[in-house]
Amino acid sequence: MSTERHDAVDVIRVKRDGGTLSDDQIDWVVDAYTRGVVADEQMSSLAMAILQRGMSRAEIARWTAAMIATGERLDFSGLGKPTADKHSTGGVGDKITLPLAPLVAVYGVAVPQLSGRGLGHTGGTLDKLESIPGWRAALSNEEMHAQLREVGPVICAAGSGLAPADKKLYALRDVTGTVESIPMIAASIMSKKIAEGTGVLVLDVKVGSGAFMKDIDNARELAETMVNLGTDAGVKTTALLTDMSTPLGLTIGNGLEVTESVEVLAGGGPADVVELTVALAREMLAGAGVTDVDPAEALKDGRAMDVWRRMIAAQGGDADATMPTAPHTEEVRAERDGVITRLDALGAGIAAWRLGAGRARKEDPVEVSSGITLHKTLGDTVKAGDVIATLHTETESRMPRGLAALAEACDGAGAIEIGDAPVQRRILLDRIGADN
Ligand code: URA
Repeated sequence: MSTERHDAVDVIRVKRDGGTLSDDQIDWVVDAYTRGVVADEQMSSLAMAILQRGMSRAEIARWTAAMIATGERLDFSGLGKPTADKHSTGGVGDKITLPLAPLVAVYGVAVPQLSGRGLGHTGGTLDKLESIPGWRAALSNEEMHAQLREVGPVICAAGSGLAPADKKLYALRDVTGTVESIPMIAASIMSKKIAEGTGVLVLDVKVGSGAFMKDIDNARELAETMVNLGTDAGVKTTALLTDMSTPLGLTIGNGLEVTESVEVLAGGGPADVVELTVALAREMLAGAGVTDVDPAEALKDGRAMDVWRRMIAAQGGDADATMPTAPHTEEVRAERDGVITRLDALGAGIAAWRLGAGRARKEDPVEVSSGITLHKTLGDTVKAGDVIATLHTETESRMPRGLAALAEACDGAGAIEIGDAPVQRRILLDRIGADN
């Protein structure tokens, strides 16, 4: 005789038939799945029913709370300063966390930035930082607290104790065609962010070919769902919808992106990276009650760089190390005069991944110096023969596949298009707050 208070098949049937799950059904099914009582095939069936039938705002909030309850919750209330974090839904060339965390910390706000590794065409913040010799991603909770108190920002690996239900469920969704459910994506991201214990959360929801969300309506729905979840859980949450149809900045790849981030911290760097870093810093600072400052100044005058150096050193990294260069390079040149009217993020992301910057499976290693440097980007004028991109790889045999990924992108039309009409790049597409 089972001592379980529900039966998985009954729960699946409710959602399959378009009904609403009760709080107790949600609490039970999430917990029982984590304990191994609900089988993978049952959870996979429920995930498919949720993907097709959706969940109400109350169901999503309960599902998120149930996932949080399967693990630990961090508590930064004793730090004596506000905490703010940023989460990006993932993109190509998205190195923003690197300059952003020290920049926000300049203003006395602690930044507990629990990050992940890259999978597929999107890069991971930890992979980028691990290009720095000696830098350590795994910190104990005590080390994390000490760094937040003494230095301000910490970028480290999320321990396995936060929302373990999500870890198991995300892996299952990944292999059962059920990732693309806005309620489940929102619950997955927000369970980890709420459990992490930040007071302020700014979401960077990417839109475009290189993003999870290809169109703005879906991105807006995801952003609103996550802002509601955060707000209901007492976290000051806002979201920016930002463009990911073109890579961010001029570098894609781990070590290359560290170098570009350091340029931004030195007061230079590509305009789009600076614009987004400053916009996200403003949101985080505003949430933490710091409104009378211009974060762009702390990039220009070296204050953010000082914090970056202390942050890297605190985790064992050598902030003075220069990134290694890849032994094999190829250039991609403009075939005609004109304007770059397309530089497709997905195509560039897949190319960088094939060159060795990314991984296909969680266990795969990544190459530090592999990736792409762009010499021109969307909207730039080119002459025939100009170098648009340099491809870098540590493994020569990867080069043809990297080049082919650029050529095959956009249904064979190619990742790079040269036309005649001027193009204006817009990074910031919309803002979602509890107040709109
Ligand atoms: N990232 C997550 O953490 N979870 C999802 O479901 C999708 C993206």
